[in-house]
Amino acid sequence: MKLDVKLILAGSALMAGAALALAAPAAENWENHCAKCHGADGKGQTKAGKKLNVKDYTDAKVQAEMKDADMNKATAEGVVDKNGKERMKAYKDELSAEEIKELTAYIRKFKS
Ligand code: HEC
Repeated sequence: MKLDVKLILAGSALMAGAALALAAPAAENWENHCAKCHGADGKGQTKAGKKLNVKDYTDAKVQAEMKDADMNKATAEGVVDKNGKERMKAYKDELSAEEIKELTAYIRKFKS
């Protein structure tokens, strides 16, 4: 499964060719795993994002309140509410620690 995804990504990267030469793997991971809730633009204004009331990552104040270590941890281990109910799932089985760090850096770039 994991291998399949990698192959598909490799394939689409080849097809996209020069046009997407600047796109980092983090951008693809974001699109595939995170954009549904957090939005392609990081604002969280998607149907699921609005329902879950996710933060706006283009907001400098929101960015200032987050620490890289907590962001890595949230992506790796997921986010639960105060009653222990899952708000965001854990991604450590699907994404490597390196990919998770790159996603945190990617989120930082949404800041306007
Ligand atoms: C099912 C919807 C959903 C998906 C998919 C999702 N998230 Fe989240 N995420 C949430 C919710 C809900 C929260 C908690 C509310 C908040 O902090 O905005 C959250 C919180 C976070 C935080 C915590 C920020 C902090 O306050 O420290 C980070 C970082 C994050 N998500 C990154 C990601 C990344 C990276 C992905 C993709 C690998 C992802 N999310 C996928 C719903 C989602």
